[in-house]
Order: sequence, then structure tokens, then C-alpha cells
Amino acid sequence: MNLNIALLPGDGIGPEIVGEAVKVLDAVAKKYGHEFKYEKALVGASAIDATGDPYPAETHAICERNDAVLFGAIGDPKYDNNPNAPVRPEQGLLRMRKSLGLFANLRPLAVFDSLAHRSPLKTEIVKGADFLCVRELTGGMYFGRPQGRSEDGNTAYDTCVYTREEIERILDLAFNLARGRRKKLTVVDKANVIATSRLWRQIAKEMGPKYPDVELEFMFVDNAAMQIIQRPTYFDVIVTENLFGDILTDEASVISGSLGMLPSASVGAKVALFEPIHGSYPQAAGKNIANPMATILSAAMLLEHLGLNKEGKAIREAVNKAIEKGVVTEDLANKGEKTYSTTEVGDFVAAAV
Ligand code: IPM
Ligand code: MG
Repeated sequence: MNLNIALLPGDGIGPEIVGEAVKVLDAVAKKYGHEFKYEKALVGASAIDATGDPYPAETHAICERNDAVLFGAIGDPKYDNNPNAPVRPEQGLLRMRKSLGLFANLRPLAVFDSLAHRSPLKTEIVKGADFLCVRELTGGMYFGRPQGRSEDGNTAYDTCVYTREEIERILDLAFNLARGRRKKLTVVDKANVIATSRLWRQIAKEMGPKYPDVELEFMFVDNAAMQIIQRPTYFDVIVTENLFGDILTDEASVISGSLGMLPSASVGAKVALFEPIHGSYPQAAGKNIANPMATILSAAMLLEHLGLNKEGKAIREAVNKAIEKGVVTEDLANKGEKTYSTTEVGDFVAAAV
């Protein structure tokens, strides 16, 4: 199979971890007789530095003309503490999501048995946790207008908007994903307070009978934040709006022991995009210490999305092998044990494929 993959390394550790994922993809291509071609593009702070725009038109064109996008991370400390910066790397990410129609962000969480002891939670609580967060990605408060400040600067406002169409398409996807798993769907909302949440709940109830084999339940977001920590094994598929999903998935990521292990997929109308859920980790940039596993696993999701299931599985097995053998970066190593660099971990996984 010939695959054309757009590479958007982005900022911070992005170029390093994407580089390792490419190594692993090349090993897969060689083993299974495929040809993968890559086209690189700028995004985030590095795109602002080069062009003044965090998501240049050229980058959009490259994403659109490839079969899938592998994305690293964006963000730079020089923007984080400057609320007045007129252009911000995050704007590039939001524009990319919107213009590529990536309305669903799938963030699977599974605890690797051999890493369960790394979780800040008790091993008996996290062992066996395996759920999927389906986060709506192009609506809600992130995109609702009006958004801004009053003239005197002393009042600020955001707007949360959801249309029936936006809610139906994400719920439809979540019901179908639940069907392929343990058939339980938890809709997380704040329907006791927020109007958009009440519309979500109404529509989910209307759609329920179309999926009689899926158990449908509702949970308020504050309760969900608690249950994810207390009983992570309770969940199968969680679906929620953009901002709640942003917050809950960072929370959920901690369960697995390292943010550096979690991949994600953003899907929608056109091309799909795959990225680690962690950020650009600027303190580690250029030091060859960042954990490349989440990006490598994102590459596995990319292949599976395009129907290359055994190739995806080969990557997962190679990652498991690295973890079992202790070939891991410092975030995952046991105290006193040798730690490996980003490139050493990538080399090991590529060789194991
Ligand atoms: C994420 C990130 C982004 C978001 C930021 C960088 C804009 O936190 O992908 O979860 O809030 O969506
Ligand atoms: Mg986030």
C-alpha cells in the first residue's frame, strides 16, 4: 500500500518524538512491503516564527492532500504568560481542527499492567482500566461567538453554542464506538445548570432507541471527574463536549502512570489527524529525553484507521516489549534503573517491529 502522510512536528519536543514515530513507520513499511511517503509542514510557534501565522495556508493544503496527518505538539512558553500576544500557537491548532472538520477527538486510556505501579493511584484501583473518551472538538466555548472583552476591558465573555447537527454526529460516532467495545456509553454533561448540556441530554435520549444494544447513562461532569479517579474501571466509552473533554482527558491521562504514553486520533469529515495527548514539554526540548511512545502509538492508530490493522498491532506489541524489557525514558523508569534516551527507545521499538 502507498500511504502519504503529512508530518506536523510543531514545537518543543514535537520534532524529536515525530522523528521516532517515523523511524517506527519506516520499519513497518519495510517489514510489510508498503511505501510511506512524508510531507512536512509548519504549525504552532515555529510556524509563527517562520511565517507569522500558526497554521499557514500551505500547511492546510499539505494536510488536505495527504492520507493522514501525524502531529507532534504545539506551544511555547514565550506565549503562555503573555495574554496580550496578538497571535498564539493555540489559534493554529483550533483553526486546523475547524478547517479540517475534525469534530471528534478519541482519547483511549488503557493501563499497561507493567506500568500500573507508576500510577499515582493505588494499583488495585487502576488495574484493568480501559476506556475511551470521545471529546467533541469543533464546538462549544472554544468556538462560540461572541467572545471577548468589553470596551473598558473589565468584563470578559465566552459563548457556549451547540447545534443539533453537531451533537447528533458526535453522539452517533460514540454510540458506534461503544458498539465495538463493551457497549456502555456515558454522556457527561452539566444538564442541571447549562442549556447546551440539556440539549445534549435530550438528543442522546432520542437517539438511544436506535442503539438498543448499547447501555446509555448520564453523568454530571463534576461527578464524572470524581468517578474517573475513584472507579476508572467503571467506564467504557465517555462522550462529552469540548471543554469538559479537554479537562477530563488530562485528568484521565494520569491514571495510566505517564502522560507520555497516551495517543489520540481526531477524526471528522476529511483527513484524520493523530497526535500524542501531551503538550510540547519545552523544558525537555532538544535534550533527547522525551518519551516518544505516545506518538509511536498515535502512528499505530493512524495505520489502523487506514485499515492496516496487523501493522498497528505490530507497533503495539513492539511498544509492550520495550516496556517489559525496561527500555523506557526517565518518566517511566523504576528508581535506580537505567533510563534510555528518546532515540534509543525509538530505535528499540523500530527494531522490535
Ligand atoms: C488539547 C490541548 C489544546 C486544547 C490546547 C493546546 C489549545 O489542551 O489538545 O487538549 O485545549 O484543546
Ligand atoms: Mg488539553
